[in-house]
Amino acid sequence: MIEIKGLSKAFGSRIVTKDLNLSVGTGEFLAIIGRSGEGKSVLLKQIIGLLEPDNGEITINGLSLSSLHGREREKIFRECGYVFQFAALLDSLSVFDNVALYHLEHGIKADDIHSLVVEKIKSVGLNPDVLNKFPDELSGGMKKRVGLARTLMMTPKILIYDEPTTGLDPITTRLIHELMKETHIKFNTTTIVISHDVEVFKYASHVAMLHEGKIIFKGEASSIWDCQNPYIYQFIRGLAEGPITHGT
Ligand SMILES: Nc1ncnc2c1ncn2[C@@H]1O[C@H](COP(=O)(O)OP(=O)(O)O)[C@@H](O)[C@H]1O
Ligand SMILES: [Mg+2]
Repeated sequence: MIEIKGLSKAFGSRIVTKDLNLSVGTGEFLAIIGRSGEGKSVLLKQIIGLLEPDNGEITINGLSLSSLHGREREKIFRECGYVFQFAALLDSLSVFDNVALYHLEHGIKADDIHSLVVEKIKSVGLNPDVLNKFPDELSGGMKKRVGLARTLMMTPKILIYDEPTTGLDPITTRLIHELMKETHIKFNTTTIVISHDVEVFKYASHVAMLHEGKIIFKGEASSIWDCQNPYIYQFIRGLAEGPITHGT
């Protein structure tokens, strides 16, 4: 589904990804781990076209991103649903308008998509009553659900989450993990999640680690606690000793 070859990206003299390779199969639920500031978000932003790579190639569903322009390019990025780190709801709009945002901006009448919005809001486990509320009236977990419902309006083939549970309590975290898993199965998506939460391994099919600009490991999530790769071993246990050195 996603094939990344030789991806390099720098900001000035700061090299973030260098000659990075990664392939993600259709239907995978991939958790990407790595230290803060390693470039995980930068990698995702290149996959969804928010950042241009300096070098290398990203192929989605057999189409090379660099060869796509205009409408074709827009179409492929619309199919990659990106659930932002902080739900990024517009506070001045109702939940309904937030979920329906893309359609409303493209001239579709609210009445014509009402049932679709209700369907999506239910599929993320919310009561349709929330549609008349404003983001300020919702809890953190509910905002994340609304953000996901908005993404699902685009019927994405690929779902990408950037630290969806950071800052949430353990119970909400669990609910978000279950919701991601349910959504993955129900909508038959390929899913990528960046997370520091080791609980995510219970839900993911695969785990990949980004370290010093490269994907240094990719393997099955079910056997991750038996993995003897020294970087993985150290990182998932949060050990001080190991090949990953301290510092920032
Ligand atoms: N738009 C940008 N301009 C300059 N530097 C950036 C930009 N985005 C990210 N960086 C730098 O790239 C590095 C990786 O950032 P990021 O991908 O956000 O890390 P993380 O793995 O925590 O998600 C950081 O050093 C960050 O400062
Ligand atoms: Mg990040």
